[in-house]
Amino acid sequence: YQLFWPKDPSLPPVVFHYVPWLGSAVSYGMDPYKFYFDCREKHGDLFTFILIGRKVTVALGPKGNDMILGGKLSQVSAEEAYTHLTTPVFGKDVVYDCPNHVFMEQKKFVKFGLSLENLKAYIPMIFEEFDTMLKTDDSFKAFKDGSKEWSSFPALKTLGELTILTASRTLQGKEVRAGLDKSFAQKYENLDRGFTPINFLFPYLPLPSYWKRDQAQKEMSDFYLGIIEGRRNGESDHEHDMIASLQNQTSKDGRPLSDREIAHIMIALLMAGQHTSSATSSWTLLELAANPEVYQRLYDEQVAVLGQPDGSFRMLEYDDIKNLKVMDSCIRETLRIHAPIHSIFRKVISDISVPQALSAPSESGQYVIPKGYYVLASPGVAQMDARIWENASKWDPARWTDKSGVAAKAGEQYENNAGDKVDYGFGAISKGTESPYQPFGAGRHRCIGESFAYVQLSTILAAFVQNMELKLEGGVPATDYESMIVLPKHPHTIHYRKRQPRKAAA
Ligand code: HEM
Repeated sequence: YQLFWPKDPSLPPVVFHYVPWLGSAVSYGMDPYKFYFDCREKHGDLFTFILIGRKVTVALGPKGNDMILGGKLSQVSAEEAYTHLTTPVFGKDVVYDCPNHVFMEQKKFVKFGLSLENLKAYIPMIFEEFDTMLKTDDSFKAFKDGSKEWSSFPALKTLGELTILTASRTLQGKEVRAGLDKSFAQKYENLDRGFTPINFLFPYLPLPSYWKRDQAQKEMSDFYLGIIEGRRNGESDHEHDMIASLQNQTSKDGRPLSDREIAHIMIALLMAGQHTSSATSSWTLLELAANPEVYQRLYDEQVAVLGQPDGSFRMLEYDDIKNLKVMDSCIRETLRIHAPIHSIFRKVISDISVPQALSAPSESGQYVIPKGYYVLASPGVAQMDARIWENASKWDPARWTDKSGVAAKAGEQYENNAGDKVDYGFGAISKGTESPYQPFGAGRHRCIGESFAYVQLSTILAAFVQNMELKLEGGVPATDYESMIVLPKHPHTIHYRKRQPRKAAA
């Protein structure tokens, strides 16, 4: 029907599909990056595809990112795109269930809670959780027994557990950490099962997973309300956590955050940080296990910066993180080619006019993206673009430490939508909306968890490197796009062996 339907020249080109309502859902769902790169070949950086009845206009590359992530509030809305997915999970009155300026204030409050003082205090707590895992997790029995043989652990499961344990021990608070050994874990599981692409596509279906999600949201909310109430009554103290910080915040109109808002912000933070961080730590360890020479450099760096004369390591400190360049480059590079979020949606709330040149460089007119469409940014496409990065698909942390290898066009300039010249070269990769490197997004919806994620990832990585040798059999796994997050496919087994103690300096 597309062949005979008259094409409206003011609209961006539409991706060919056979089944009208389904559209390109299957090819997009199976491998969104392949889908984006294939469509870019045919249509350029701007095209529309049909996704289960929705019209979604994709804008790729730094200019596309700029257009969507830097889009005007009057034109693109994250709330309209996501609230049916997030509100049943996070709860009412927070994030996308409130006016944008209220959410922006909530983000500011969370930023206060992620103070330097708190982040510094988290590092030893994360090490403690790592040590507990080595003592209690069956996968690390060989480690505990001091065996010199190789053993193994499943990356995603182990890192998933370690992420939730460390996030709850630090940011979430000790009551949440204690609850993880009890009923909290089940509530979290049920809530998590309601946070999937199916929930995004179908706001409500009469299925047990939807009922369980709603029940878990209520129970989880009550659980946090109990903590907040208990804290207010002086029943328990706290150590540098987010609940304590949010309880002290007052909005512009002089009103403190309500207990329910605090509870729901805490759930939002739990859900926003869990899979993004655990996917990143899993991919980083998988890549390191597959690249022994990089892993050795990482270990040498730990010895150089933290090694003690008696062969032990001193505690990592916050200020060390910026000196651990190899470690930083490994995390950065993992976030470049395994960015956890492959698609960022917004709903178009008033028509957007876009230069046709975004799609076909020789054209000079304007396309209109009509109200009611969705727009989609995929920062991962620019992050893996061979026109921007040398050996774009290779995991090569050295590109971040060795000036010459960063970008194919290092030093060249690129003109963004505002007509500004942006430098692609090393050191100039900005946090702006037109940057070719945006694993944490950009613009008003940019991630606020980045500083926490870096502390968590760096500490977990340091703990593994100091304690274990790693290796991988069969190469780095392919990517699984079934969930909302970019995950390694099964099997993702990492082999480890306890490191022998370093010799004390003579
Ligand atoms: C937003 C990535 C960890 C909380 C975002 C966005 C991205 C992102 C791409 C932008 C979404 C959009 O524009 O719609 C990541 C990655 C992480 C990570 C790669 C770890 C490696 C965390 C953590 C937290 C968190 C640990 C909480 C402690 C948030 C929040 C937003 C956000 C609250 C704001 C959403 C908005 O304004 O609409 N993150 N994130 N993230 N992230 Fe993260």
